[in-house]
Amino acid sequence: MAKSFDRIADKFDETRSLPEETMSAVVDALEWAMPQGATVLDAGVGTGRFALPLQNRGFEVVGADVSTRMMAKAAAKGVRDLFRSDVCALPFKDQAFDYTLSVHLIHLVPQWRCALAEIGRVTRNELISVITDRRNSATEEIRTVYRGSCGRMGFEVKHVAPGERELPELLPPDSKSKLAVRKEPLDVRKLLDHYETRTLSEHWDVPEDIHRRAVAELRERYKGVDELSINEELFLIKWRADRVREFARNPG
Ligand SMILES: C[S@@+](CC[C@H](N)C(=O)[O-])C[C@H]1O[C@@H](n2cnc3c(N)ncnc32)[C@H](O)[C@@H]1O
Repeated sequence: MAKSFDRIADKFDETRSLPEETMSAVVDALEWAMPQGATVLDAGVGTGRFALPLQNRGFEVVGADVSTRMMAKAAAKGVRDLFRSDVCALPFKDQAFDYTLSVHLIHLVPQWRCALAEIGRVTRNELISVITDRRNSATEEIRTVYRGSCGRMGFEVKHVAPGERELPELLPPDSKSKLAVRKEPLDVRKLLDHYETRTLSEHWDVPEDIHRRAVAELRERYKGVDELSINEELFLIKWRADRVREFARNPG
């Protein structure tokens, strides 16, 4: 069963947006990675974070997502072609798209190999993703503290599948290039409020009592700390669609 983002559709852009400068570096890189006018499937299009700027730059973008409320946000911004569909059963012909873009999707799909098989099937050229390395960022430090608290209380916080970020360990990409470094202050209290209200999907399955205690531990640990630093590196990674198809058939 796919995790429904309907519940956080209203908060998604506020909590996941990139600063303007970083976003434009990402969209520039996506534009250079694909020939002008190419057809692009944005799998797990969400609120159209990438679909809208790509559409505005002349790409023929189609978005697919299971969440009607996320796609309603995308439609309200002007994203034109949206299909309610599971990435594991895409309603498109073989190689219907020149490229598929998949960002922050695969880790949410329990049948992730099936998702890759479908993406491989509908894509002629390449699967493209944007991944973020947060190892030196306070966001990751706070995440590790929260996960540690839950772990000590007997609950392992984890995604149902490897994400686009982990996929390179299983299927080495054909290319990986650094897009941008994001450095900015982190509003600690605001982030902890988002933890408390379970804005991040990895918190959705944590039992209420454990979640409450883990957030209380975080608040105690970061008492008096208003600001830390976001320090992230963003990368563009690409896999040839035929390699994605082969991997999905024969993961090794
Ligand atoms: C973290 S959001 C990312 C949205 C967008 N790619 C972005 O980066 O802004 C994940 C999106 O994937 C969608 N999703 C989750 N499971 C899915 C599935 N099995 N098939 C299609 N979409 C799915 C969610 O509804 C959500 O809109």
